[in-house]
Amino acid sequence: MTDSLSRRKFLQTSAIVAGGLFSANTTAIALEPRTPSVSGRPVGANDRLRVGIVGVGMEGSGVLSNALTLPGVECVGAADLYDGRHTLAKQITGNPGLQTTRNYKELLDRKDIDCLLVAVPDFWHKQVVVDACQAGKDVYCEKPMSHNVEDGFAMVEAARKGNRIVQIGSQRVSSIVYEKARQLYSSGALGDVFYIEGSSDRNSASGAWVYPIPPDASEQTIDWNEFLVGAPKRPFDAARFFRWRCFSDYGEGLAGDLFVHLLSGIYFISGTNEAPKRAQSSGGLFRWKDGRDFPDLIETLYDYPKFRVALRCNLNNAGGEPIKFHGTKGTMEINGQTLVFVPQDTTPRPEGYTLKSWPARLRKEYMAQWDAEHPQPGPLDYQVDAAAETFTAPQGYSDVSAHEANFFNAVRTRKPTVENEVFGNHAAIGCHLANYAYFKNTIATWDADAKMIRG
Ligand SMILES: NC(=O)c1ccc[n+]([C@@H]2O[C@H](COP(=O)([O-])OP(=O)(O)OC[C@H]3O[C@@H](n4cnc5c(N)ncnc54)[C@H](O)[C@@H]3O)[C@@H](O)[C@H]2O)c1
Repeated sequence: MTDSLSRRKFLQTSAIVAGGLFSANTTAIALEPRTPSVSGRPVGANDRLRVGIVGVGMEGSGVLSNALTLPGVECVGAADLYDGRHTLAKQITGNPGLQTTRNYKELLDRKDIDCLLVAVPDFWHKQVVVDACQAGKDVYCEKPMSHNVEDGFAMVEAARKGNRIVQIGSQRVSSIVYEKARQLYSSGALGDVFYIEGSSDRNSASGAWVYPIPPDASEQTIDWNEFLVGAPKRPFDAARFFRWRCFSDYGEGLAGDLFVHLLSGIYFISGTNEAPKRAQSSGGLFRWKDGRDFPDLIETLYDYPKFRVALRCNLNNAGGEPIKFHGTKGTMEINGQTLVFVPQDTTPRPEGYTLKSWPARLRKEYMAQWDAEHPQPGPLDYQVDAAAETFTAPQGYSDVSAHEANFFNAVRTRKPTVENEVFGNHAAIGCHLANYAYFKNTIATWDADAKMIRG
């Protein structure tokens, strides 16, 4: 047996005819993480990147911690509107003297800062990114890139004008699991893929954004007026500050929070970099009726030129975050750190379903002709080119580190990031289409020339 055949599964004729074989023949493969080195070469004194962070909350604290694990990265300043996060930034960096401020523009004024990590609520992304690009700083900005369509294009323009490196923070696109999925997709192993589905389902208060509020939250510890710049004025409300995802003034609900990860992953794997042509949504607010503006269940059907995509987020049942590609030659599913590829059995077979409705003579003639056109190989010649394969990232693997490494590498080399502002904008527009269709109870279509949603 040759090497190339060594992983093929040789199957008995009777077993092939019985079908449903592939799950029994699975090859498990551990994926090798690439080195997290930011430059692929030793980091010299001149290679050191001095970083400022804007927003040190739930995500920003993780982004900062991850950045500090990468070679040649140093945090030299942190901005946040809540004083508790100044203390947190000092604790994460281990530097009690770290410069902290409520005003992110102080970081922009600093000549010693090379780039910014931005993890503020979504409605603040545009202003911080535009200001950073104007100040000559490269930016890693959290997902979803934009709060609305106009913001996204303003950010694209600012990056272009300032010639800045931008990375949007949907970290899965830097994962080795997604890299493997992209290879399988582009190799043709799946055949033609016309349908992709993904979901992101949770069943907990935290999953539904009902986060505990720090006991010291007050107008003394939080710059509430600054938080509301760009949003409607209202009296201090700690729930709005810490649970901002629930409110359309600051976030985009489930689509902005979770569809964006699914869409970014689908874009990366399929090589798509455009907004969907149209979207139709259904859903409702069934359970988390705490005054929020958004549904706790949303399903959206998207039209892309080459395939259709069905996404769902449900905050009323824990179902993980699978993405499934249905191809004519195979099915590929990603769930967490695991990718499973299951080939479809496309072995040629005589018609089995309608033939029983034919008279015996015609059936016999059909079978004789089929047999003549399909000479039967011996049982040991039956093969399936690839059995089911499972690829898994090692325990502790961090796609956030990989994504940040991709950004820092781009800052050094001036080569594009994996998820630049154009990619990020296209993924975010998909989220805005979903919400538009849901709230306006219409089919949302994307007018690329006018850069606007119609419906
Ligand atoms: N990539 C991911 O997997 C992922 C996960 C979670 C959140 N996120 C994204 O990260 C961003 C932050 O989310 P979060 O969960 O950390 O929210 P958060 O509320 O925990 O943190 C946001 C922080 O930003 C600060 N802030 C708000 N406005 C500011 C301003 N103008 N200047 C300076 N600081 C300001 C707040 O004080 C707060 O500390 C969002 O865009 C979110 O969608 C991404």
